[in-house]
Amino acid sequence: MDRIDILKLLVKKYQYERFLEVGVRGGYCGYNDIDVPYKDGIEITPGGPANFVMSSDEFFEQNRGLKYDLIFIDGDHTYKQSYKDIINALPYITHNLNSSILMHDAFPPSKAYAKEDGGSSGEVWKTIVHLRCTTNLKIYTIDTDYGCAWIQFDKQELYTKDPLEICLDWDYMQMHKKELMHLITVKEFKNLL
Ligand SMILES: C[S@@+](CC[C@H](N)C(=O)[O-])C[C@H]1O[C@@H](n2cnc3c(N)ncnc32)[C@H](O)[C@@H]1O
Repeated sequence: MDRIDILKLLVKKYQYERFLEVGVRGGYCGYNDIDVPYKDGIEITPGGPANFVMSSDEFFEQNRGLKYDLIFIDGDHTYKQSYKDIINALPYITHNLNSSILMHDAFPPSKAYAKEDGGSSGEVWKTIVHLRCTTNLKIYTIDTDYGCAWIQFDKQELYTKDPLEICLDWDYMQMHKKELMHLITVKEFKNLL
């Protein structure tokens, strides 16, 4: 199961109508493949199918008032920008308990994929750690396709065993991944739906 299958399952389960993708690239994924009545896509590099050719920061600055029930975040993979994308996306989500954000690259297979400069899966995993330690969002990291973090507007039991600075260490995260990332298998995800 990959990110597209997960998005499709979420659309089917919750009958989503408005979809936003951050980081569309060539359109393979949500933007071309997800069947919803309304879609917007953001992509910083021109030439692809996205209807908003700009940075995610510019989009979130200029389009206040737009609402989506499913947002897929797969743009800049640095810790700083991926965290910012989530925080900026929150007001764009219809505040319905069923609405979702899906974040790709949340659990890379090894440290070699977790590049600090955002290369490969970057440090998106740190954004998930940050949110698990500090926010009242319901977060599960599905252990497939480089990790897909599923976020909803519900409560979660915060991870409080150690301070955030300690949790942001790769080896610490690996050691506590079940609890800290709220890591689940694909089967467990399907059972939650
Ligand atoms: C990993 S690719 C996306 C792939 C696509 N979502 C998929 O599932 O196949 C990341 C894309 O995000 C774009 N991107 C990077 N930083 C961005 C930003 N700040 N705002 C918008 N797009 C960005 C890149 O140009 C690239 O095309």
